[in-house]
Amino acid sequence: MIDFSRIRAEFPIFAANPRMVYLDSAATSQRPEEVIGAVAGFYRRYNANVARGLYEIAEEATLAYEAVRKKAGRFISSKDEGEIVFTKNTTESANVLMRGFGEKFIKKGDRIVATLMDHHSNFVPWQQLALMKGARFEVAGLNPDGTLDLEDLGRKLKGAKLFAFPAASNVLGTLNDSRGLCAMARDSGAVSIVDGAQSVPSMPTDVKKMGCDFLMFSGHKMLAPFGSGVLYGRRELLEKMDPFLYGSAMIRSVGMKESEWNDVPHRFEAGTPLVDAVIGLGAAIDYLNRIGMGAVRDHEEALVARMLKRLGEVRGLRVLGPCNERKRAGLVSFSMDGIHPHDVSAMLAEDGVCVRSGHHCAMPLHAHLDIPASTRASVYIYNGMDDIDALAASLEKVRKVFG
Ligand SMILES: Cc1ncc(COP(=O)(O)O)c(C=O)c1O
Repeated sequence: MIDFSRIRAEFPIFAANPRMVYLDSAATSQRPEEVIGAVAGFYRRYNANVARGLYEIAEEATLAYEAVRKKAGRFISSKDEGEIVFTKNTTESANVLMRGFGEKFIKKGDRIVATLMDHHSNFVPWQQLALMKGARFEVAGLNPDGTLDLEDLGRKLKGAKLFAFPAASNVLGTLNDSRGLCAMARDSGAVSIVDGAQSVPSMPTDVKKMGCDFLMFSGHKMLAPFGSGVLYGRRELLEKMDPFLYGSAMIRSVGMKESEWNDVPHRFEAGTPLVDAVIGLGAAIDYLNRIGMGAVRDHEEALVARMLKRLGEVRGLRVLGPCNERKRAGLVSFSMDGIHPHDVSAMLAEDGVCVRSGHHCAMPLHAHLDIPASTRASVYIYNGMDDIDALAASLEKVRKVFG
């Protein structure tokens, strides 16, 4: 049994900022000493480029880099590490797919489906692909409780070629039934592209059980350094894709007129990769595995339950998305009658409470909700009930000031 109250001490940023109540992990997580140390250790002991040199530290760096590929593969239960492409983040993963898969296989008149709760990163690439190709871009709607309207989705998916959706919404918090949605995509003949940016850091992930074709996530939201992202793809699909970036070690051979591409997944990793970030991702995965992703999920669910209860007590505060913590990821967005979200977050900041306000890269969703912006509080393994209570107390103050 993990003692979550002791975890905070393993994150040096909290000692450096003792007043801080960090509730913005959906934007980026904090990093434990172990991850910081792994990156520093790489630079101190075996800093070298990967897949190039034959001397000792170059081989050590290459082995360490490739070992993280295996670890990341196991973390999401992929068949083998060849299905793991390192990218900078979720956004880059989507763009690798849009260029490498979308440009090759989507044709004029094809249908592409996204959802109203998609983050721009899994929305704009498909919207732009549709514009480029003369394809149709359809957006599946929502029920009033912030869940996906499955009837609307079913209609739009008929005959579609590609379906992009988030495993968890970064605004509504809605946890989608990814397995069911992937099955719907498969039955319609569409390729499923799952945005795992808000789910992979917080709960067990099994791509085989989920049955997705592609899954994308960002290391920086799960204790790892900035610049460590993953694109998982079923091998047979990755094999059919074209590279997105050209040059460096993504080739097998280069002639004067033509070039041949390297094997999957190296074909998609042109240029010197972010070796340090990937090494840090390995350390982050080790750290999370020791806690256990089931325990991470339980912890977040308990914090969200408290947050729903305490925020529900603040007058004129409207929580966005499902009101049941079991149906939510570790974040709660809300709006307050008569108070602009930026004023809310600025006042919370005065109490050391760090939340985010804005459209959270989900403008179509905010337009649908008929609000320009919202305030979002998000939790992770280092948060405790005290943080939720501090948020609630600070919100009560905001309410008093604005009447
Ligand atoms: C659901 C979702 N998708 C995609 C992204 C984009 O992630 P990144 O900026 O790491 O590419 C985010 C980031 O907030 C997100 O919450």
